[in-house]
Amino acid sequence: MLTSRPRGTNDILPGETEKWQYIEKVFHDVCRRYGYKEMRIPIFEHTELFERGVGDTTDIVEKEMYTFNDRGGRSVTLRPEGTASAVRAYLDGKLFAVPQPVKMYYIGPMFRYDRPQAGRYRQFHQVGVEAFGAESPAIDIEVVALFMDYFRELGLTELELMLNSVGCPKCRKVLRDRLQDYFRSHLSSLCENCRSRFDRNPLRILDCKEAKCREVSSDAPTLFDSLCDRCLNHFKIVREGLDELGVPYTLNPSLVRGLDYYTNTAFEVVVHGIGAQSSIGGGGRYDGLVELIGKRDIPGIGFAIGMERVLLAMEKQGVGFPSVHGFDVYVATIGKGTETYALKLTDSLRKAGLSAERDVMGRSLRAQMKYASKMAARYTVIVGDEELAREQVIIRCMDTGKQEDVHIEDIIKILLEKTTQPQGGSLSV
Ligand code: HAM
Repeated sequence: MLTSRPRGTNDILPGETEKWQYIEKVFHDVCRRYGYKEMRIPIFEHTELFERGVGDTTDIVEKEMYTFNDRGGRSVTLRPEGTASAVRAYLDGKLFAVPQPVKMYYIGPMFRYDRPQAGRYRQFHQVGVEAFGAESPAIDIEVVALFMDYFRELGLTELELMLNSVGCPKCRKVLRDRLQDYFRSHLSSLCENCRSRFDRNPLRILDCKEAKCREVSSDAPTLFDSLCDRCLNHFKIVREGLDELGVPYTLNPSLVRGLDYYTNTAFEVVVHGIGAQSSIGGGGRYDGLVELIGKRDIPGIGFAIGMERVLLAMEKQGVGFPSVHGFDVYVATIGKGTETYALKLTDSLRKAGLSAERDVMGRSLRAQMKYASKMAARYTVIVGDEELAREQVIIRCMDTGKQEDVHIEDIIKILLEKTTQPQGGSLSV
C-alpha cells in the first residue's frame, strides 16, 4: 500500500522525464516567439474562485474538484484548470495597469476527480496561455496560430481544429430560449444529465456525448443562427485570419466546451487515432471572466493543452524525440593509482559544462565500460596507470568504438569540440 500511488496519478521517472522536458522546452520556445511570458501560479486557490470562475453548473465544479478545509478552516481547492487562477493573478498583480495586452503562459499540474482511463488522470499536466486586454479578433487569430504551431513544432499530424463562436451573453440568451423551446418536446428522449441541464444550462446539451442526445441535438437550433451582428463579424474576421495563415479548421456549431466562461471564439483540437480521450487541447475567449472575478471589464482569451495526451499522441504517431545520450563523458579508471586523477578530471569536465560521470561502485574496467554503454554515454575517457605516466588518456567514442590517444592537457578542449557536434539518430517513444 505504501508503495502504490493514488489512483489517477503518475510517477514521471528518468527515461520519461526527458520527453517531458523536451515538450516543455518546445512550448517555452514557441511562447517566446509569440511574445508570451511565463507566469507561475499557486496549485491551490480559494474554492470560491473556481465555483464562480469555472461555473457552478459545470462537471468540473459539480463533481470533479479536490476541495478540503485547511487547518484554518478555509475551503481551498487544488486547481482543476489555470484560467481562473490566471485571471486572479492578473488582478492581484494589477497587471491591468501595465501596457495591454498582457500575454502569459503556464506549465504545471491540474487536478480533477474523474474516472481514470488512458489519457484521463486525476493529476494531469497542462501547458496554457492567457492573453488579457485585447478585444480585437487579431488576438484570437494569434492565440489559435500559437496553439497550432506548438503541435506542428512537435511533429504531430492528423489533427483536426474545431472552431465555433459561442457568442456574447446577449446571443446566448436568445439561443437559450430557442433551445428550451426546441428541447421541451424532446425531454423524454434525453439522458438524465441533459434533463437536468435543460433548466440550468441547455447549451451543454449540445455538447453531450450520449448517442440519444446527439440524435436529438442534430436538429436543434445552433449558435450560428443566433449570433448578433457584432459576434458574427468578430467570428468572420477570425476565420479570415486563419484562412490567410493557411490554418485549416472545421466549423463545429455544437462545440460548447465544458467551462462556463467562454464568449465568442471557442476551439479545440482532436487527434484521430489515439482513443477516447482524443481532445488534446482547447480554449477560447472569456470576455466576462475578469469582470466576474474582479469587477473590471477586461477581455481575455487563451487555451490549455493536456501534456499526457500530447505524449500519447506522439507515441501513437511514432514521433521521435531528439536527445539520445544519457550523458557526455564517462571517466573509466584502471587501477587505484588513477582514482584521484579521475576525481579531478570529472570535476573539471563538469565545471567546463559537460555532463560527466565516474565509477562510484568499485567496478572493474570491463564492468565500467558496460555501464557507460548501457547508460548511453557519448564518450569514455579511459585513465590507465601507464598512460597517465606518459600524460596520456584514451578517448573512446561509444557510438563508433573509435579510440584515440590524447594528451591530458587537451582532454577538455577535444571533448568540448566533439560534444558540440550534432548527435546522430533519434529516440522513438
Ligand atoms: P479543458 O478543455 O478543460 O480547458 O482542458 C484542456 C486540456 O487539458 C484538454 O483538452 C485535455 O487535453 C487536458 N485534460 C483535461 N482534463 C484532463 C484529465 N482529467 N486528464 C488528462 N488530461 C486532461 C481548460 O482547462 C481551460 N482552462 C482552457 C483555457 C485556457 N481556456 C481559456 N484559457
